[in-house]
Amino acid sequence: MTAAIELRGVRKEFPGGAVAVDDVSLTVGAGSVFGVVGHSGAGKSTLLRLVNGLEEPTAGSVLLDGQDLAALGERRLRPVRRDIGMIFQQFNLFRSRTVLGNVTYPLRLAGLDRAAARARAEETLDFVGLAGHGKRYPEQLSGGQRQRVGIARALATRPKVLLCDEATSALDPQTTGEVLALLRRVNRELGVTILLITHEMEVVRTLCDRVAVMEDGRVVESGEVYEVFARPAHPTTAAFVRSALHGEPDGPLLERLRARHPGRLVTVPVVDGAAVLDDLSPLLRENGVDFTLVHGGVAEVRGRPLGSVTLALRGGDAAVEAVVRGLAAPAQREAGVR
Ligand SMILES: Nc1ncnc2c1ncn2[C@@H]1O[C@H](COP(=O)(O)OP(=O)(O)OP(=O)(O)O)[C@@H](O)[C@H]1O
Ligand SMILES: [Mg+2]
Repeated sequence: MTAAIELRGVRKEFPGGAVAVDDVSLTVGAGSVFGVVGHSGAGKSTLLRLVNGLEEPTAGSVLLDGQDLAALGERRLRPVRRDIGMIFQQFNLFRSRTVLGNVTYPLRLAGLDRAAARARAEETLDFVGLAGHGKRYPEQLSGGQRQRVGIARALATRPKVLLCDEATSALDPQTTGEVLALLRRVNRELGVTILLITHEMEVVRTLCDRVAVMEDGRVVESGEVYEVFARPAHPTTAAFVRSALHGEPDGPLLERLRARHPGRLVTVPVVDGAAVLDDLSPLLRENGVDFTLVHGGVAEVRGRPLGSVTLALRGGDAAVEAVVRGLAAPAQREAGVR
């Protein structure tokens, strides 16, 4: 797979000494959706600004389509920049321009005449589901509609790459879902490579092919989304994954579950390819053990099931012990049964 974006050992240190990005290397394949998650201050926005050339790296290099940005002069950088669209958390629309005016703006800058710009803008507004809204002003639109205008403006010049900086963080869950569905169409139907940054793992779960987790300017973990969700290696990643999946209950929740449910609590992971749950039913039957489902859930991550369920097992001590031991066989231990 060719790389649409490649960062090689990129560092960004601001005057005054703040290091926002520290030795980051990552590759975004052409036509893929790549997510970067991290807490506030992790360096995500700076990373995007390095990719679109708004910031220059202190060390390392940023390559777009194999071209090192630093090696291009301002004149040769311009057409490369035109291949990159960007959308923002606060939409960043021109309030004094109509929807159509917002979308034609980058087209006029790119040299299209009035009629051609208008035709392209209307076509793009149609794609994002805003046909007929061209004469309205941003403040007359809902947040979701405003972000659609943002997406139309970013796509109007037909860029190869779309950068999204917390594009859904200001939206409610339903509107977020609609915008994510639109971004998926942008990727699948238009073939646009998407690099998005977010602090919401839910966005990564529904949209991304690969993910990198950033902390203090560094990438602490990266990989294919299902693998990272199923087997997070870094504690920060694990915490992000827990925010999007029902994991093993701990702390006060575990205390409450123990108080509420007599019997032994067992958490069984649901991981595609590790058939722990399939073993459960015969084990319970053979040992005459009953159960109550007390916590958990199974989500779909990139079309595959992932999650965990916590059961309260009821039966004779020896029978319950036999079930737990059966579940804790080596294959299951690998899958994380506790
Ligand atoms: N222009 C700048 N000058 C000095 N320090 C900066 C500058 N821009 C960012 N920083 C610092 O770099 C670090 C990373 O900032 P950045 O905005 O990239 O984080 P972020 O991950 O996008 O955070 P958030 O989720 O809050 O948007 C922060 O400590 C920030 O204070
Ligand atoms: Mg930011």
